[in-house]
Amino acid sequence: MEYRKWYDTGIKTSTLGYGAMRLKTINGEIDEEKGLKLIDKAYKSGVNYFDTAVPYTDGKNESFVGKALKRYPRESFYLATKLTIRLYKTKEELEQVIEKQLKNLQTDYIDFYLMHALNKHTFQTIKDWKILDLVEKWKQEGKIRHIGFSFHDDYETFKEIVNYYDWEFCQIQLNYMDDDIQQGIQGYHDLVARKIPVVVMEPIKGGKLSNFNDEVAKTFFDYNKNASLSSWAMRWVGSLDGVKVILSGMNEMEQVEDNLKTFNNFKKLDETEVQLVKEVKKALLKVTEVGCTNCQYCMPCTVGVDIPGNFRIFNNYAMYKSEEDTKWRYSELRKKDAIASLCIECGKCVSQCPQGIDIPNELKRMRSSLPFLE
Ligand SMILES: NC(=O)c1ccc[n+]([C@@H]2O[C@H](COP(=O)([O-])OP(=O)(O)OC[C@H]3O[C@@H](n4cnc5c(N)ncnc54)[C@H](OP(=O)(O)O)[C@@H]3O)[C@@H](O)[C@H]2O)c1
Ligand code: SF4
Ligand code: SF4
Repeated sequence: MEYRKWYDTGIKTSTLGYGAMRLKTINGEIDEEKGLKLIDKAYKSGVNYFDTAVPYTDGKNESFVGKALKRYPRESFYLATKLTIRLYKTKEELEQVIEKQLKNLQTDYIDFYLMHALNKHTFQTIKDWKILDLVEKWKQEGKIRHIGFSFHDDYETFKEIVNYYDWEFCQIQLNYMDDDIQQGIQGYHDLVARKIPVVVMEPIKGGKLSNFNDEVAKTFFDYNKNASLSSWAMRWVGSLDGVKVILSGMNEMEQVEDNLKTFNNFKKLDETEVQLVKEVKKALLKVTEVGCTNCQYCMPCTVGVDIPGNFRIFNNYAMYKSEEDTKWRYSELRKKDAIASLCIECGKCVSQCPQGIDIPNELKRMRSSLPFLE
């Protein structure tokens, strides 16, 4: 296993970290037998960083992770969990949470404590409720050791948050398809410039970069038929020196084994490989079903269909072939009464589209191409 030093802090973490968020559940309960085997395999293979949070797997994640890690010497691993601000209606309610977390995690202290999923709104609550004063108190009491944040918003908000406090680490979403959204690669460079250790989440884009369009994937397989698609995504992130931990939400033994293979003998991408990743990214972005540019000229639709939203789902499926993700995205549109199947073919939108898209027919084609949505 490859390990990385967190600058001069004395902390040394395995480059592959275990994200517990995606552990499989059966009837709302974590499949413990399976989960314990996965965590054992990772721990025994040298993974020493485990990430959980209160809301994961319907609120059962911390207890499970606590149970799993209790079986190992406490000083032999790092434990990361989060303060999920959106879950609490008042500051008083939030003040009680640390004791419950320590109890659920069966530990006296948490190594890495993150302000969870910060964005403009949660950051405002942090300031309004003076949450960092509270968290510092917990640190002085020995309940937590290092204070950081995870992030999902735009670069401007990111800069504001980074400048606000002396953060000890930061968790960002980063992969070769997403280096220009949220804080982007610029945000990564800002953290490196300040020597703030970076933890990466969604390195495989939540699984989408482990299985995508066959034609595009061929570029990687032609170069190295034995390397998994996931290993390319992992190595792209791992080639960034400022990244100290790459979290993966592994839920199958094959995934653990494949990721261990990548990090047991870790090699950064060389120049040729960097170019291949760029080619794949470009090709993936071109694999589109409908040339919709999201200009919104066709909106509003007579009956409320989110026309570009539906085409985005169609295009996303073409790139990543993920039925589960596509179903989830479509269900979100369904909640807003904006799905493709509501189109009554009035034709009003067609003349508005600068791309000349035959919108009602393309919506129909989407439905017949993705029958699992109906
Ligand atoms: N703080 C936050 O705001 C936040 C947000 C998101 C995530 N996180 C944390 O960060 C962790 C990592 O993010 P993530 O789970 O999205 O990471 P990820 O590695 O991008 O995605 C994990 C998914 O990728 C697939 N996968 C992983 N390794 C694979 C392999 N070798 N071969 C094939 N498929 C593979 C699996 O998907 P399938 O089983 O579906 O194929 C797995 O569920 C999470 O688990 C969570 O702990 C935190
Ligand atoms: S053709 Fe369909 S998508 Fe276009 S405006 Fe009419 S109902 Fe809406
Ligand atoms: S007008 Fe055409 S390109 Fe613009 S959002 Fe509508 S469908 Fe997409």
